[in-house]
Amino acid sequence: MCGIVGYTGDESAAPIILEGLSKLEYRGYDSAGMAVFNDKIQKIEIVKEKGRLQGLIEKTNAGNAMMGCCGIGHTRWATHGIPSQKNAHPHFSDDKMVVAVHNGIIENFHELKEYLQNKGYEFYSETDTETVTKLIDYYYKKTEHNPLESLSKALIRVRGSYALGIMFSDRPGVIYAARKDSPLIVGKNDGGKFIASDVPAILSRTRNVYYIDNMEMVELSGEEIKFYNIDGEEITKEQVTINWDAQSAEKGGYEHFMMKEIHEQPKVVKDTLQAFLKDGQIDLKDVGLNEEMMKSLKKLYIIACGSAYHVGVTAKYVIEDLTDVMVEVDLASEFRYRDPKIPEDSLVVIISQSGETADSLAALRMVKEKEINTLGIVNVVGSSIAREADYTMYTIAGPEIAVATTKAYSAQLICIYLLAIYMGRVKGSLEEKVCQDMLQEMMTLPDKIEKILTDKDRIQWFANKFASAKDMFFIGRGLDYAICLEGSLKMKEISYVHSEAYAAGELKHGTISLIEDGTLVVGLMTQTSLGEKTLSNMVEVKSRGAYLMGVTEYGNYNIENTVNFVVYVPKTDAHFTSSLAIIPLQLLGYYISVARGVDVDKPRNLAKSVTVE
Ligand code: M6R
Repeated sequence: MCGIVGYTGDESAAPIILEGLSKLEYRGYDSAGMAVFNDKIQKIEIVKEKGRLQGLIEKTNAGNAMMGCCGIGHTRWATHGIPSQKNAHPHFSDDKMVVAVHNGIIENFHELKEYLQNKGYEFYSETDTETVTKLIDYYYKKTEHNPLESLSKALIRVRGSYALGIMFSDRPGVIYAARKDSPLIVGKNDGGKFIASDVPAILSRTRNVYYIDNMEMVELSGEEIKFYNIDGEEITKEQVTINWDAQSAEKGGYEHFMMKEIHEQPKVVKDTLQAFLKDGQIDLKDVGLNEEMMKSLKKLYIIACGSAYHVGVTAKYVIEDLTDVMVEVDLASEFRYRDPKIPEDSLVVIISQSGETADSLAALRMVKEKEINTLGIVNVVGSSIAREADYTMYTIAGPEIAVATTKAYSAQLICIYLLAIYMGRVKGSLEEKVCQDMLQEMMTLPDKIEKILTDKDRIQWFANKFASAKDMFFIGRGLDYAICLEGSLKMKEISYVHSEAYAAGELKHGTISLIEDGTLVVGLMTQTSLGEKTLSNMVEVKSRGAYLMGVTEYGNYNIENTVNFVVYVPKTDAHFTSSLAIIPLQLLGYYISVARGVDVDKPRNLAKSVTVE
């Protein structure tokens, strides 16, 4: 994980780098640092601080204490070595000739470190980054200070992933960068050039970016940007214009990004839906999927991590119900190591907000090697998964900043419903009229979500009562179980309350022994045929002391005879209930997190984009 930013141009670099890093804290926030070339003393100055970026901001007087127009910065999510000033980036060679920031993992760093130690290098940190920095230094000296050749020689020896920003103390005003399996973009405006891990870091300064591909290097100076392959041969790259609204990467009056993003869901659902509708019909031409391919499709694999995996679980229920296609859902981290036997007429769908999740990306690459068609459902334009999948369906969620996903999850659900209806129609399991009715119903989802959001004060009141809860259980059957998985993850990741999601029928096979007086059990009952069965399971836990919260559709008022606190959501087609029932659970997690004083947007130990396996 980790976020990197670099700037070279006419302006003072440090404030620009700090501003960029503040937009990347979602990638890691246990320490931060900056290196700026000071023209007066002709040296690279480095400042680092443990903890949040705010510490570095204070230490450098908002960057004003660091003079110079060329620099690199880093916000860290520790992989090698504890969060500390010593392990914070930038790292440097013994004589500070080479200074680098890094996002990724150098897998063979022990081996490289030993090699360098034998050459006389000493090490001050526990990081893999210090090793790669010193390896570059070694080759820089060996090649008589040839930056590209030294980078090329060093990086060819490296196994693992990296996005690197590098400065050489005898090359003022120039930044080098290189990438393999960790995201890296380059941007430019009239006054300067940028490197960054992600678009929001530079969005307030430019919309003109280049995506750096694996095993590519870049040289940025005040005058120009040059791109090279790993052999040092110059290559050309296409400039991309980013259409995101800079405002949408800001909090817009909400206390936290998560709350802002929860409130953006009606719009995101609408935008994602509209992006794939033409004249009232689902149109996937821009995605590249065609009817012929869909007709022959026998099996769908859905691969993802975390919340995106939960969308996959929903997808299995929805797609298998609407089509004759078998669906397998897998966690990317499991799938990539189990050598799955994928029949030819299959489509593998990788779902990912960031498009950079290491396990999902590795799974995609493994499938591509088997020459099976792949579809990415991705939010970040130009991300690795988006570019490497054969087909890409973009969720129109805009930048999602809070570590806990909300709006991207909702947008992913919409893509899944569209895919299911499209497949059902093309393969003949759904009549045209049914498809039209379902699309009409989908169009009502934004207003229905809006309506649930108007009830948020009631959920806040309830959340405050359970702010000190130790354990929670989320139970449901069928699609309700898929919602439970996501509701439970929201709870634990942002509130630090232990919580588990269970298929309601499974409880009595062991877990019910954990129910004590006052344990909160949240029952999801949006599926008419299964809701009653879940209610029976809730009665069972109530008689063992549980306190019950229910989520069900308006009209099911008899539930109040059993359940202590009920949240109602508007009625919708049974296939789409995840889109509505998840909203109260997102709010519950959010309000419990706030009541417990947790940093909602940046919960401990997590990062938004998990680029390590
Ligand atoms: O960027 P991705 O969608 O691939 O990320 C997958 C998971 O890391 C992500 O959903 C994670 O579980 C979130 N913290 C959930 O809120």
